[in-house]
Amino acid sequence: MDAVNVAIIYYSATGNLHALAEAAAEGAEKAGANVRLRKIAETAPPEVIDTRPEWAEHVRNTADVPEAVLDDLAWADAVLFGSPTRFGNPHSALRAFMESAGPLWFQGKLADKVYSAFTASNTAHGGQESTLLALANTFYHWGGIIVPPGYTDPVQFKTGNPYGTSHVAGTGAPNEDTLQAARHQAGRVVQTTAALKAGRAA
Ligand SMILES: Cc1cc2nc3c(=O)[nH]c(=O)nc-3n(C[C@H](O)[C@H](O)[C@H](O)COP(=O)(O)O)c2cc1C
Repeated sequence: MDAVNVAIIYYSATGNLHALAEAAAEGAEKAGANVRLRKIAETAPPEVIDTRPEWAEHVRNTADVPEAVLDDLAWADAVLFGSPTRFGNPHSALRAFMESAGPLWFQGKLADKVYSAFTASNTAHGGQESTLLALANTFYHWGGIIVPPGYTDPVQFKTGNPYGTSHVAGTGAPNEDTLQAARHQAGRVVQTTAALKAGRAA
């Protein structure tokens, strides 16, 4: 059977989601998947980005990461979305990308794939679950199979978010436990998707 194709599609201004996305890519690759790590194209104007040196630096540092395109969704058997929490919701550019997938949705090409999501917010109660659940609303519309991490690995009892890997950016960069949670989440997505593929092929 062909390996599982996993697209990891994220937006990051200051690097936290990028770090989680890279860890998810490691976890998916370790589980045997073909991985496309893709960033959502930046929509903020340079003069706004330059008001925050860490944002400008991150844009420079990730210039080589390909931007997400609709073919990444069509190609994937499973998609992990990574979004910062923005006023309790997903980032607007990531939302715009999802909304641009209307034609794929209409043709049924987003259905039956596995979806999962991860996030970061500045504070622990700043809206991580609401962001993840808002992303899941779209997965329902797409006819997706949502695979959350739950408490399926000891690391989940340390990091504690069954809805999806979550990082409190106000504490600094993601620590090893949080990166491991992202690896675990992506590995579980690959294993579940592989089982679905095998079942459908049988
Ligand atoms: C416009 C805006 C809205 C935000 N809203 C929230 C929020 O509702 N709750 C919260 O805890 N953090 C909020 N933040 C902080 C971001 O979630 C945080 O900077 C982000 O998760 C860091 O991820 P990144 O380094 O990948 O960009 C907001 C930031 C911006 C710029």
